[in-house]
Amino acid sequence: MNCELAAAQEQEVARPDLQWFQDAKLGIFIHWGIYSVRGVGESWSFHNGEITHGEYMKQLDGFTAKHYDPAAWADLIQRSGARYAVITTKHHDGVALWPTRMAPGLPPHASPYAQARSTEHLTPAKRGLIEPLFAELRKRELKCGAYFSLIDWSDHNYPAFTKDSTRYAIKDDPACWQHFRDYYQGQINELAAQLKPDLWWFDGDWEHSAEEWEAAKVRAMILEKNPKAIINGRLQGFGDYATPEQNIPIETPKTPAWELCMTIGSQWGWQPWDTVYKSTHDLIHIFADVIGHGGNLLLDIGPKEDGTIPAGQVTRLEEIGRWSSKHAEAIYGTRAGLPNGHFFGPSTLSPDSTTLYLFLANGMSGSVEIKGLDNKILSAEVVGQPIALKHRVVGKISWSKVPGLVFIDVPKAVADPWMTVLKVKLDGPLKLYRGHGGFE
Ligand code: GLC
Repeated sequence: MNCELAAAQEQEVARPDLQWFQDAKLGIFIHWGIYSVRGVGESWSFHNGEITHGEYMKQLDGFTAKHYDPAAWADLIQRSGARYAVITTKHHDGVALWPTRMAPGLPPHASPYAQARSTEHLTPAKRGLIEPLFAELRKRELKCGAYFSLIDWSDHNYPAFTKDSTRYAIKDDPACWQHFRDYYQGQINELAAQLKPDLWWFDGDWEHSAEEWEAAKVRAMILEKNPKAIINGRLQGFGDYATPEQNIPIETPKTPAWELCMTIGSQWGWQPWDTVYKSTHDLIHIFADVIGHGGNLLLDIGPKEDGTIPAGQVTRLEEIGRWSSKHAEAIYGTRAGLPNGHFFGPSTLSPDSTTLYLFLANGMSGSVEIKGLDNKILSAEVVGQPIALKHRVVGKISWSKVPGLVFIDVPKAVADPWMTVLKVKLDGPLKLYRGHGGFE
């Protein structure tokens, strides 16, 4: 293996506790909250003034969760091939989906709510919704992630409110900020004790510094209760892995672990007009691209207020699951594949880098080309179909150290309707030529 690749692999595991996460590849993100009653933007709709805060909070009265079936959700997540799920326990609107006992809005800024701001106390759902899902996920050996917004725009002790109005500045009222900190950290302690998340997915850290949030203390609190818990990168420098949003990097990121979070349509939560979902074809290609660069895909769904998941979202998850179960060996537990330029498409590698998986765009057939491969190929086959493929090495110049070009022929009949994957066994750990060819 060349130095560049060796360096990339050295970086791969930041904390040993991240190994399950790096092997998992696919997670399902769930944005569920009172915003799905009217189908408005999660929290941002009142923050940006599209609706008043009062109107937004009236959605509490319509949040029923009456068809919520956590076992069916967990089944669907399992069928999708995801190995973990992350659900919003509290978005920036401050409504807790678990039975919190932390009363909001302690003096000096009293809250209009006498009780905890939660689905248990303030909605017809009348209960916590996270624990039953975690229980079902755990029965299926899926890991459980808790999304938690640090921002709480509804809390009267929180400085920011809407984009045009703030309540106070921390420097003018440190006592008030301290009340808020006690509140949100109390909630984190509750979640850690009640739900024992395997993964914490913080959001909204950008509104305050690590010192203001006491990010180091929050991390320590979490790890004290569960030393194996892993934390996403939105805790002002105190997380374990990066969480780029919506946009895929072109080059393999240098960060030790990363996860692309992406909406299935264009919105995180359910909105009635958001029905143009990414196609299964596109989602599978995106997924392959992400894992080819060593990342995970955290694909978001938005259930309705009653707990039903729109049919188009279900279909996509099921189709992704059919494809990923057929190609499981090329996906789970693999590492980032060839750097850009060696093969025109995504690829992954077995952990010992002796097996290379090539993902062919559009169920492509014909000839597949690999450049700069300094290994002998022991065998090439189609994943999920026991068909040995022929390959040939072309243009090898005897006196040059530049490897020849490898062509593998893929007959039409073996093409997968979504994305065909080839398995290429090498004579040892991957060795790549990374030079300038005939320019040298
Ligand atoms: C953004 C948004 C939020 C969403 C999150 C998911 O940070 O603030 O609405 O939940 O992205 O990554």
